[in-house]
Amino acid sequence: MASIQLRGVEKSFGAANIIKGIDLAIADGEFVALVGPSGCGKSTLLRIISGLESATRGEILLDGRIVNDDSPRDRNVAMVFQSYALYPHMTVAQNMAFNLKLSRKDKQEISRRVEEAARMLDLVDLLERRPGQLSGGQRQRVAMGRAIVRNPSVFLFDEPLSNLDAKLRVQMRGEIKLLHHRVKTTAVYVTHDQIEAMTLADRIVVLNRGVIEQVGTPLELYNKPANLFVAGFIGSPSMNFIDARLKDSASGQKAELADGTQILLPARPFASKSGKITLGMRPENIVVERESGNMAGTVKVSEPTGPQTHLVVEAAGTDMLAIVRADFAARAGDGLRLSFSPNTLHVFDAESGRVL
Ligand SMILES: Nc1ncnc2c1ncn2[C@@H]1O[C@H](COP(=O)(O)OP(=O)(O)O)[C@@H](O)[C@H]1O
Ligand SMILES: [Mg+2]
Repeated sequence: MASIQLRGVEKSFGAANIIKGIDLAIADGEFVALVGPSGCGKSTLLRIISGLESATRGEILLDGRIVNDDSPRDRNVAMVFQSYALYPHMTVAQNMAFNLKLSRKDKQEISRRVEEAARMLDLVDLLERRPGQLSGGQRQRVAMGRAIVRNPSVFLFDEPLSNLDAKLRVQMRGEIKLLHHRVKTTAVYVTHDQIEAMTLADRIVVLNRGVIEQVGTPLELYNKPANLFVAGFIGSPSMNFIDARLKDSASGQKAELADGTQILLPARPFASKSGKITLGMRPENIVVERESGNMAGTVKVSEPTGPQTHLVVEAAGTDMLAIVRADFAARAGDGLRLSFSPNTLHVFDAESGRVL
């Protein structure tokens, strides 16, 4: 096992500056998810940690030792990719043993490790099959087994579940979490799926255009997003945003919307140079009632999901998403009222996008 440190890591491809100065410390045994939109540099950063790609600037440390010049093999990291990259002509057992054979481990040690990994991953009955005779989930397990048998210091996962259907993805997600509880190997897990990141990780790193927007536990990011990007990226369905101005009143600070609606803010002095703010409301925190409430709205769309219903409500000139109980009957065109408990509101500086 190993800790990971990145110090001022940058990466350019030609003139394109893709990774723009990353500083990050990952503790030994920690499970860290790296999330961000497609193209933001997640795979590049993972490949820099693995040694498949070199950094243009900065240092990569494993267990306190600078490894910039070490090959992937010398770093003792194991990668699991979205494309399982299994050898089609080899059996499951041979696929799992392949890297160990290359590193000239003795035969008994190899079969002991393969058996142990097969037991852990429920592959014992499949050891003699070839990849073509396996389901997608089973192939992903073999890819994981191939990483585990190497007993690496660090696991690096690059969107390992993206090729699986939704149900299998949830199941494999659970298995990866169990596996980490058991082996406790430091893991960096790349995904564009914030739910996957939230459910798996001890800490999440939100990456955007090659820079870190925020690092924190899943609930820290959900409850205290540092800026508009993180607020919009973490949480599903996404947070609603609405433009407003700060306004002082006898009962406390308020946000005044374009149509004059006033919304009471949490009891904490907010200051923004321009006075312009962006108010954030999570759909699950909006209180929807028929008669009373802060703000009038009209139902545009009602989407039942089973346990709850999502309502798109036109209010104060924008569309807001609110979640109501499944038994709340609402049809397009219905008039409603929305209210917001001050402590559930997120207040951002409209210009910088930073939380106030
Ligand atoms: N070898 C390469 N040469 C040139 N550009 C690259 C190379 N690898 C990645 N990029 C570019 O770097 C950016 C980030 O890519 P990547 O790290 O794969 O993003 P992500 O995994 O977050 O989707 C993309 O714009 C991509 O086109
Ligand atoms: Mg990628």
